[in-house]
Amino acid sequence: MPAISALQAARAAYQPKLPTVFANGAAVNIIEGEATTAAADLDQIKALFPETYGAPKVTFEVNATSDSAAINVAVILSGGQAPGGHNVIAGIFDGIKSLNADSKLYGFLGGPGGAVDNKYMEIDSAIMDAYRNTGGFDIIGSGRTKLEETAQFDKVIANCKALNIGALVIIGGDDSNTNGCVLAEYCKAQNSGILVIGAPKTIDGDLKNEDIEASFGFDTACKVYSELIGNISRDACSARKYWHFIKVMGRSASHIALECGLQTRANVTLVSEEVEAKAMTLNGIVADIADKAVKRANKGEHFGIVVIPEGVIEFIPQMKVLIAELNDLLAHDTSLSESLPVAQDIAQLQAHGLSSESAGVYLSMPANIRQQLVMDRDPHGNVQVSRIETEKLIASMVEMYMQENHSDIHFSEQHHFFGYEGRCAAPSNFDADYCYSLGYTAAALIGAGKTACLASVKNLKSPASEWIAGGIPLTSMMNVERRHGADKPVIKKALVELDGAPFKELAANRDQWALHSAYVFPGPIQYFGPTEVCDQPTITLTLEQS
Ligand code: FBP
Repeated sequence: MPAISALQAARAAYQPKLPTVFANGAAVNIIEGEATTAAADLDQIKALFPETYGAPKVTFEVNATSDSAAINVAVILSGGQAPGGHNVIAGIFDGIKSLNADSKLYGFLGGPGGAVDNKYMEIDSAIMDAYRNTGGFDIIGSGRTKLEETAQFDKVIANCKALNIGALVIIGGDDSNTNGCVLAEYCKAQNSGILVIGAPKTIDGDLKNEDIEASFGFDTACKVYSELIGNISRDACSARKYWHFIKVMGRSASHIALECGLQTRANVTLVSEEVEAKAMTLNGIVADIADKAVKRANKGEHFGIVVIPEGVIEFIPQMKVLIAELNDLLAHDTSLSESLPVAQDIAQLQAHGLSSESAGVYLSMPANIRQQLVMDRDPHGNVQVSRIETEKLIASMVEMYMQENHSDIHFSEQHHFFGYEGRCAAPSNFDADYCYSLGYTAAALIGAGKTACLASVKNLKSPASEWIAGGIPLTSMMNVERRHGADKPVIKKALVELDGAPFKELAANRDQWALHSAYVFPGPIQYFGPTEVCDQPTITLTLEQS
């Protein structure tokens, strides 16, 4: 047995809370609501999903009796890790056992690819117990293989049939659940008898809508990052000599940065969606931060905290153009990755094919970033924007700006990237309870014979006993978007809404927070203690649901 920490041992004994509707287990009565449509492009979605389109949303009612047949279920973890994944699996495990003690749970290994390649394990109670309330996805591993081709679907169906698996639960984000919906449609069209249910996962928080109040993992990840940002803020106002530039994960949407900014009251919190809406330039962002540094320095405060969303670079319109031009040029001539970074002036860059505006932007950046923009490419030849050290880029540009314009003012920067620090943290009580409830909900939907649904647990700002569990047809969240040059049905990604309550809260306070050191220090996640310390949902959720 591997050694475990005292906290791990105590957490293993934690019994996650469930909505009262599961008082008698996962065998529930189903209440069907109105038939659904789609988020947009109704006719196209209807034509693409004739078998599963238009199903009603469902909620549950307590059922006194349970006479369910045993069922074999398989689970897949898809995409980036998020705290609480193991508890979703625990909820499915306990839920299907409550339906019938002879039910079995399998896990496909290493993500969706495991279902295609028939790599699996049975999850028995000893294995399950070792992972309850722990972070990570290591029980069966995760992966980013996309399930989108008929040949893959045929293999998945054959592999499931060989194990007598009647239902598949895909724990993933918007893309994984989009693919889950296509698979569910195919399974139904083929009369395979295999149900497909999804669970909303991603620390990024961008799989949400009126029925999915939060994706799991967001709560814990934001609390971990906010603890660290709070610790750095304390250091900053103790040492009084550094500006800290902190990038947090969140590949597209800025929900994590916004939540961390609200939790810690950082001096500056960038929100990519605002950057795009206001067509901000890199130089404009830099000048704005420098302006705040000058104002704070005039009060004797030569320190500050800037929170930066991981994906911001792609939301700066001029950077978007530059990145697209670089992708294009390098696709045709890879030798440019050597000549572009050493070009001395705009004319030379133009001679290599960059437009004059992009050449100017490229030249304004530090040498290491110029290098990263041409070196780090994905298998499709695109710049891997998530690997660009935006925190370093912005920090060094502000430092340069200060040297050029305010050389009399002391300004010194530090930079940090918080991502992997939070993705596998032990789930907060909120995520432990939410994830277990999502898993139990998935089991209840399977027990009721539902397919092509995302498990939904609502009313999350109330105590867990009052949470409302149910299922939302995946097609109801879909619209058609242009992806890789083709129109595709996809679940709509939830970006930060600039007229939403969380952003408005930031906008209403940020001038004050920029000038004054009004930091809040959230401290580490607490698992045991008073409910106001241990069980608070995120500020985002609280404001959105108020
Ligand atoms: P998902 O969308 O798959 O949940 O991933 C979230 C995330 O943590 C992003 O915030 C981050 O950009 C990405 O994963 C990094 O993934 P990887 O470690 O695979 O490069």
